[in-house]
Amino acid sequence: MKAGQPMIQWVEINRKAFLHNVGEFKKRLGRTELMAVVKANAYGHGLLAIASLAQEAGLNWLAVNNLEEGLALRQAGFKPKILILGYVGLEQAETAVGSDLRLVVYNLENIRSLARAARRLKKKAIVHLKIETGTNRQGIPIKTLGIIAKELKKWPEIEVEGISSHFANIEDTTDDFYPKYQLANFLEAVRCLENNGLSIPVKHLACSAAAILFPETYFDLARIGLGLYGLWPSKETLISCQQRGQKPLKLKPVLSWRTRVAQIKPVAAGSYVGYGCTYRTTRRSKLAVVPVGYYDGYDRSLSNSAYVLIKGQRAQIRGRVCMDFIMADVTDIPGVELEDRVTLLGSDGQDKITAEQLASLAGTINYEIITRINPLTPRVIV
Ligand SMILES: Cc1ncc(COP(=O)(O)O)c(C=O)c1O
Repeated sequence: MKAGQPMIQWVEINRKAFLHNVGEFKKRLGRTELMAVVKANAYGHGLLAIASLAQEAGLNWLAVNNLEEGLALRQAGFKPKILILGYVGLEQAETAVGSDLRLVVYNLENIRSLARAARRLKKKAIVHLKIETGTNRQGIPIKTLGIIAKELKKWPEIEVEGISSHFANIEDTTDDFYPKYQLANFLEAVRCLENNGLSIPVKHLACSAAAILFPETYFDLARIGLGLYGLWPSKETLISCQQRGQKPLKLKPVLSWRTRVAQIKPVAAGSYVGYGCTYRTTRRSKLAVVPVGYYDGYDRSLSNSAYVLIKGQRAQIRGRVCMDFIMADVTDIPGVELEDRVTLLGSDGQDKITAEQLASLAGTINYEIITRINPLTPRVIV
C-alpha cells in the first residue's frame, strides 16, 4: 500500500468546491434561505461529510429523504432544522417528532399520526404541507385543502411551519409552460389556505434548476440538491439560462471517485476479456484489473464503453463490468504499476471524467451516476 492511500476505493469530497457552490447559490437567492438537500447519502457524497460542510457554510436547513437519514444526522450531533421530504411510516411519527425532525404532510392519516405522537410526547410536531401542483407524486390536491385546513385546526399539537411543492418538468425542457402552471397552482394553494385562516410562514418551491432560472419561485426557502454538488441539472437548464441572458452560475464538481490498480495482466492478441467474452483483444495488450464493479455503483451498462484515468490518461474498459471488478486497457499508457491511482470520476492531470459523460454512456442522468455510488465506500473531505 502506498503512503497516503490507505483505502482501496474512496470518494474525495472537495471542501472548497462545495463552499464555493453554496456561495454561488446564496448570491443568486439573495434573501431567500438555502436548504441543502442531503438525501440519498447527500447525492452519493456522504451524508455526514456534506452535513459538516453545510454547517461550516452556516446553512440552517437540511433536507433528507427518510427517518433513517434524519436520525443519522441527529445521532451525529447535527442541530440544524431537518425536513424529511419523503415517506415516513405512520408508526414512525413518534420517533420523528421525538428527534425534532420536521415532516411533510399530505393526507389526513399522516397529520393525525403526527398529532397523536406529539400529544403523547407533549411537544409540537412541526410540519410542511406538500401541495399537489402537477407532479402527481406526494401532495395534497388543491381541491381538498379545505378539509386539510379544517383537520389541522383540530390539533394544537401541529405547527404548520411550511408549505411546499416540487416541479415535474423543469430540467427536461427549455419550455417554461409547466413550471409556470405549477407556480400558479402553488399560489392558488397559498391563497386557498389563507382564505381558510392558515397563513404559513415558510413557502418553498425551488430546486436547483428553479433557483438558476426562475426568481419568481424563490419565496422564503429554496431546496438545493444537485447544484450544491457542482453539477448542472441538465443541458436544457444551461441553455435556458443562456437564452434568458442570465449569467450562468459557476459550479464546481465536488466529487471524485478513485481506486487503485489491483493487478496488471499482459494478454495475447485474440484473448477474451470478462464475463460473456464480449471483448476480444486485437493485439498483444496490457490490462489493469480495477477493484470496482456494479456493486460499487459503477453501472454495468458502462461495459466496453467507458474509460478510467490512470496517470492522467484514458484507459478504455474492456469486457463487461463485473460485480466487483472492471478491466481497463493500459497497453498505450507507459509505466502503469500495481496500486497506481485510478480515477473513475473526476480529474486526473489534464483530463477528467464527468458524471454527465458517464450518464450519457449509461443512458441515465448525472443524478443517478452519483447517488448510486455505494454508501459503504469511504468519503474523504480534501
Ligand atoms: C422534493 C425535492 N425537493 C428538492 C429537490 C432537489 O432538487 P435538485 O437536486 O434538482 O436541486 C429534490 C430532488 O430530487 C426533491 O425531490
